[in-house]
Amino acid sequence: MFKREKGYDTENKDWFWVKYKPNGSLHMNPKKMKLAGRIARGADKGCIACHKGADGDDMVFHTNRIK
Ligand code: HEC
Repeated sequence: MFKREKGYDTENKDWFWVKYKPNGSLHMNPKKMKLAGRIARGADKGCIACHKGADGDDMVFHTNRIK
């Protein structure tokens, strides 16, 4: 995950989500879409849905920086 500019995805704290394989290429979903960007935004499964459940207010489990 990395923070993009404000407004990239305001609903989801402007995070860019990405899932790499060990060889540096990108994982794909079953529809062959690359897992990079606003992954599974609005879906009930996936990066965003699960990370919404993290404590704090920045959708991360370990390094929340929003008080
Ligand atoms: C089913 C729930 C779930 C899904 C889906 C999920 N994550 Fe996570 N993620 C977690 C949990 C729980 C942790 C903390 C893991 C730990 O304690 O070791 C975590 C940790 C992370 C971290 C380390 C920062 C942090 O939050 O502490 C990153 C980066 C991350 N996930 C990215 C992603 C990306 C990108 C995707 C989608 C490709 C994704 N995650 C999908 C549950 C999920």
